[in-house]
Amino acid sequence: MCGIICYSGSKKAIPILINGLKKLEYRGYDSAGLSVIEDKTPITIKSEGKVSNLEAKTSNITTNASYGIAHTRWATHGRPSEINAHPQLDNKNKICVVHNGIIENYKDLKYELINKGYIFISDTDTEVIAHLIDMYFTDDLEIAVLKTVERLSGTFGLAVIHADIDHKIIIVKRGSPIVIGVGDNEFFAASDPIAISDYTNKIIVLNDDEMAVLNSKEYFIKNLRNEVLKKNIKIVDKDSYSNDKKGFESFMLKEIFEQPISIKNAFRGRIIESEGVSKLGGLEPVLERLKSIKKLIIVSCGTSFYSGKLGRYIFESLTELDVEVEIASEFRYRKFTLDKDVAVLALSQSGETADTIAALKEAKRKGALLLGMVNEVGTTITQLTDAGVYNHAGSEIGVASTKIYTSQLVLLTLMGLLIGRYHGLSFIEGKSIIDGIKKLPEQIKEILSNAKNIQKVSKKYAHFRDFLYIGRLYNYPTAMEAALKLKEISYIHAEGYPAGEMKHGPISLIDENFPTVAIAPDDEVMDKMLSNIEQIKARNGKILSVTNSSAKKVIEISDDIFIVPKTIPVLQPILNIIPLQLFAYYIAKEKGRNIDKPRNLAKSVTVE
Ligand code: F6R
Repeated sequence: MCGIICYSGSKKAIPILINGLKKLEYRGYDSAGLSVIEDKTPITIKSEGKVSNLEAKTSNITTNASYGIAHTRWATHGRPSEINAHPQLDNKNKICVVHNGIIENYKDLKYELINKGYIFISDTDTEVIAHLIDMYFTDDLEIAVLKTVERLSGTFGLAVIHADIDHKIIIVKRGSPIVIGVGDNEFFAASDPIAISDYTNKIIVLNDDEMAVLNSKEYFIKNLRNEVLKKNIKIVDKDSYSNDKKGFESFMLKEIFEQPISIKNAFRGRIIESEGVSKLGGLEPVLERLKSIKKLIIVSCGTSFYSGKLGRYIFESLTELDVEVEIASEFRYRKFTLDKDVAVLALSQSGETADTIAALKEAKRKGALLLGMVNEVGTTITQLTDAGVYNHAGSEIGVASTKIYTSQLVLLTLMGLLIGRYHGLSFIEGKSIIDGIKKLPEQIKEILSNAKNIQKVSKKYAHFRDFLYIGRLYNYPTAMEAALKLKEISYIHAEGYPAGEMKHGPISLIDENFPTVAIAPDDEVMDKMLSNIEQIKARNGKILSVTNSSAKKVIEISDDIFIVPKTIPVLQPILNIIPLQLFAYYIAKEKGRNIDKPRNLAKSVTVE
């Protein structure tokens, strides 16, 4: 959703800000804007729609301004419009503010400010920040920002400049991610390191209630008592934060093809073969407590919820934990008690999903151990949890998650292995899981080498309006995730169902116009899947199966098949989803959809 990029240095600021905004486009937004200051005069430009609209407007402007702030907005308070786009300014047009997050008490503050004579121009919650800073400003911008922040409740990552204060940018973080980029006599701030990846790989991750003060020569990180803090600079791998399509026609296709690497990155350095166990450094601080937990609750949304659902089968197979999985937006409002024996694990590629954060806060209040599995380093969930693991899958730009889903499944298996080895899981079982994980990258390459054929089959199915996806056990969540992939990028209606439920209702939908994708590997429930497939065939339903070459009966009965290599049941879903990601992709392509940025969706969902 919303994005921030700021620059203070000696180069022309506008091209740097526009470039940063373009890199943030993948997060989803509906308007954009920037403010730069030259000779104590702010130049503010905003536009609805694409960053390219904003860029076109800036092309008429000649300025050497070398500091400024910029924003992509995803409307929460007030419709998408130029007036509501950020930066928001005070009434004297001196203070410019960009803001990610939501100011919950903005109405009270607005009322107070109106009573003091301030005139509101926009419908945004952000505008109160600009007026409050003006109200508190005498001659020290830091003090005015700190006094303002004291008055705000809610979440924010915000950046402020003042026309009379040369090159100074003040940034404050509470709940919305911000990193500071350190260059040579130039400094950056961004809500996502990708926005500054062309300029520096040295970043500082701000924690909640920290402030950064940048100018063109130096930077300070402070707490909200205005005391300077010492923080380490992190060197990030530029490649993993790049948003270059590397020759692929879209980011989603690139990310599907990156899965052999992202999976390797998920298990690299995290297995101890000689002991048949995994080693997850991020969980070490809580290992003793983890050994004694009795129950694990996985909370997440969307694709991360489906990997959580699979996580239940994984943990039930490898450990003796009692496992529950719940959609974060439901969990956060339920009445429940938790105790010290319970761990709550949040899965989130972005680390910023508002509902998942709220669910974690609820669990924290009730005393559970909080764990996270996150791809984006330093984000809110990583800061909120007691311990966790990173996916290290690199940036995922395509809105529809692919490589992070499979990375989550590998890491869930490694977590299950770690805990399971303290329970009843034997060395031999542990070793066979490790052997299976190590083979995954090559097995995925084998599936990907068949992409042309998958595309050919997909074209045959692109005209259908509805799809059913069915599977049992591990492949029930796989069916749900595969259906989600199809619906989000092709806009075709698709439902994932446990195959055994067909006869309890959905089978009435089946006819020659309603195809079924059956995920039916050669496993202990294959015969049950075969019966379900027979029932669909008997009603003229078309069947596309994902299966293994050894599953002769499934191959014979299906109209079309995607063959995937066979692995142990706990890992099979990682292979089964790959052709179905491609199937969704090629259908969406056939229908001419905007695959990387499907309508109405954002990459990081920071509102409830
Ligand atoms: C779908 C997809 C979304 C996200 C969901 C949660 O392809 O990506 O369903 O999985 O919005 O996001 P994270 O994982 O960032 O918490």
